[in-house]
Amino acid sequence: MSFRDKVIYQVYPKSFYDSDGDGIGDIRGVIEKIPYIASLGVDMVWFNPFYVSPQNDNGYDVADYYRVNPDMGTMADVEELIARLKEHGIEVMLDMVLNHVSTDHEWFQRALAGEKEYQDFFYLREGKADGSYPTNWESKFGGPAWENFGDTDLFYLHLYDRTQADLNWHNPRVRQELYKVVNFWLDKGVRGLRFDVLNVIGKAEFLEDAAPGVVDKSLYTDTPRVHTWIQEMHRETFGRCDYKVTVGEMSSTTIENSIGYTNPENNELDMVFSFHHLKVDYLDGQKWTKTDFDFPLLKHLLNDWAMGMQAGKGWNALFWNNHDQPRAINRFGDPVNFHAESATMLATVMHLQRGTPYIYQGEEIGMVDPSYENMSDYVDVEALNAYKELLAEGVNEANAFEIVASKARDNSRTPMQWSNAANAGFTSGDPWLRPTDFEQINVAAEEKNGKILPYYKQLIALRKAHPVIARGSYAPYELDHESVYAYVREHDGARLLVINNFYGEPTEFPLDEEFLHGRVVISNYPDPVLEENLQLQPYQSLAILI
Ligand code: GLC
Repeated sequence: MSFRDKVIYQVYPKSFYDSDGDGIGDIRGVIEKIPYIASLGVDMVWFNPFYVSPQNDNGYDVADYYRVNPDMGTMADVEELIARLKEHGIEVMLDMVLNHVSTDHEWFQRALAGEKEYQDFFYLREGKADGSYPTNWESKFGGPAWENFGDTDLFYLHLYDRTQADLNWHNPRVRQELYKVVNFWLDKGVRGLRFDVLNVIGKAEFLEDAAPGVVDKSLYTDTPRVHTWIQEMHRETFGRCDYKVTVGEMSSTTIENSIGYTNPENNELDMVFSFHHLKVDYLDGQKWTKTDFDFPLLKHLLNDWAMGMQAGKGWNALFWNNHDQPRAINRFGDPVNFHAESATMLATVMHLQRGTPYIYQGEEIGMVDPSYENMSDYVDVEALNAYKELLAEGVNEANAFEIVASKARDNSRTPMQWSNAANAGFTSGDPWLRPTDFEQINVAAEEKNGKILPYYKQLIALRKAHPVIARGSYAPYELDHESVYAYVREHDGARLLVINNFYGEPTEFPLDEEFLHGRVVISNYPDPVLEENLQLQPYQSLAILI
């Protein structure tokens, strides 16, 4: 089996299951829930970071790559987790946060204490003659990308929070230290690696201003150096494992670069996460806005990436949800009127595409954005900054709240909803983030008589049963239909037509003759009738195999 045949499940440990009642999910909690994970039929579990961290960015501010944050568990727990999952044929994928470290990390602390050797681990620069920052770059979490370096005249670069200092990959010692981290976890039996924001590691040594008023990501994104360094990392770390899965999280990347990252001839990565399809509900490209999604744009992006990556022998990671995105069902579906239908339609679109599908915890039971009514429920640094900035721009409180409620990363980070018991059965204590809507939406209810969970299991099983899903080519079908996204996969004489109605109204869809006598291998409505003018129900999906 290669990475193409797999289905990967994402666990956000802080919100999966709390075994000790402190309100925070932990590794032992995940161990208790292994039977549930195994029941899905997935091959690998990606865990968000559980390393020692002050948690300013929920673990993406790593203070020690070699130890487990005490409130999440111990190294022995992680070793047991890896071993117990393997007993079920499930491998572990860990998050490698190698672009930056927490300012609590020993390297930064030693740099601050004046050790030159460690100062060269970071981007330290002098301000401009007028006292302003070294460049006009902005942090992705708002505000300038520079912060005073202790009480010196220098500033350090942070593309994310000011407690996440960017590492200077130009320094060969930094690269060696980071490869040691990767090898340490490979030696523990980890076989999946998810590289956080990997395409911004290649900043120039000489940092330049962006044009005034412009956020010019090209100054630090997808530079040729990124490819060189990934190739080096491949040689020095995971290249030695026969069996492994690697995925790079690529912020604002291009198809051309993503082909470079994933064409097997280049010895870089197996696949990439790209995000263009999740920006189709951004007004004028701005995240902190609220507007309906642009369906034609979404469809064309999905199609362009499928076609483009295929042409360049690249490979996509397929996903709607993760810990940084509001729930897709709230953005592209209708959780009120067509909860199960729209959840399963979205799942079908991704799982039968060309690429490797990822399921984010809770997606498989149709979890939705929490129905918070007050800013005091939100905790994420990005959401809190955005709210302040919106108010500063003159947006009124009600509108600012509505925007944050639709875009906050907390939306997907609420605790996994296990049952309708207190706190969704996630904790016996006070949850770090409050779950809502769990009386209707929870694992126990889905296991009993739900429609979403069994559908996900069916999709996962289909990938194993029909090679056309993991191996087939991709071509669009009736791309200009106003409410349907359809495509054909083809492999070894088998053809699979996948049809998805993205709207809450019925519609007609033309079916080519060859599919009229095909076999429906999955559908989210019972017994679809195959006819020339196919009648599609609201949010209906079906796949026909010939
Ligand atoms: C990635 C992570 C996100 C984190 C950021 C900085 O985008 O997914 O959660 O905040 O990198 O590490």
